Amino acid sequence: MSVDVESILRTVDHELPPFPPKVIMLATGEPMVIRQASRDEIPDILPHVEALIHHDRDFYDVVAARVYSELLGHFKHRYQDQYLLVAQCDGHLAAVVNGRAVDAKTGMSLHTLGLRRGLRAGAHAFAAKMEYHFDQLGHQEVLIVAESPIGFRRWMIEYKLEKRFEIPHELGGCPSWSLTRALFDRARGSLVVGSRPVGKELLAKAMAAILPPTDPPKMAPDFLAATRARYDSTGTAIIARTQK
Ligand SMILES: CC(C)(COP(=O)(O)OP(=O)(O)OC[C@H]1O[C@@H](n2cnc3c(N)ncnc32)[C@H](O)[C@@H]1OP(=O)(O)O)[C@@H](O)C(=O)NCCC(=O)NCCS
Repeated sequence: MSVDVESILRTVDHELPPFPPKVIMLATGEPMVIRQASRDEIPDILPHVEALIHHDRDFYDVVAARVYSELLGHFKHRYQDQYLLVAQCDGHLAAVVNGRAVDAKTGMSLHTLGLRRGLRAGAHAFAAKMEYHFDQLGHQEVLIVAESPIGFRRWMIEYKLEKRFEIPHELGGCPSWSLTRALFDRARGSLVVGSRPVGKELLAKAMAAILPPTDPPKMAPDFLAATRARYDSTGTAIIARTQK
């Protein structure tokens, strides 16, 4: 008798409702579309996440390595009840957010990865995934952790999250924080922006393909090393190079 091992190893995912796409006007005046990404699109996203695995700045490395693993696990049916949203500007990837449904009441926020900095693209994508937890999945609370001080400012402080330190979070067993429905409702007027429905053309552009980020996070030049350089004690050469 043959045994179908794959059917035993696979997650048995519950069907999750769709996320209604939304559009947010960025400070630059560009519309950013946030929409659900399907499992089939994961191979288009992975290379842009992989590029940040060695980006040793603001914890991009830790988060990118974990996101890579989660998305690959989801792609290969090894991650239970995961969803994935992408933020795109003119098709180009600006942020990736994911999470999962634990049960009917509780959501688990996994990660937020900003691929274009300085525009709160990550913060808007995080707000969209919280909308998904509360408005589509019907959760009463979402368990959250921050891996970086920027993340701590964005989630714990801006949303005034409650401590749930007795619950180890799925991300490394760290003490959890909670975004309750009441806290989220209070944030709706300020932190949750954007509109629906997304215009036909805008949505079609976003759905057509996930294009590479236009300005992904880059390592800063080592100004400290430059100041030690024998012939460039002021770092002028490096500064000039970055301004080209
Ligand atoms: C946390 C994160 C999602 C927030 O995304 P965001 O809302 O789009 O915010 P940005 O990254 O653009 O900006 C964050 C800070 O970096 C600064 N910043 C902006 N552009 C920058 C740049 N090019 N280089 C370095 N820092 C920059 C901003 O001043 C901002 O400071 P503020 O918090 O005082 O406003 C994003 O920083 C990120 O992906 N970080 C790495 C992974 C991570 O920590 N994820 C969260 C896990 S909890």
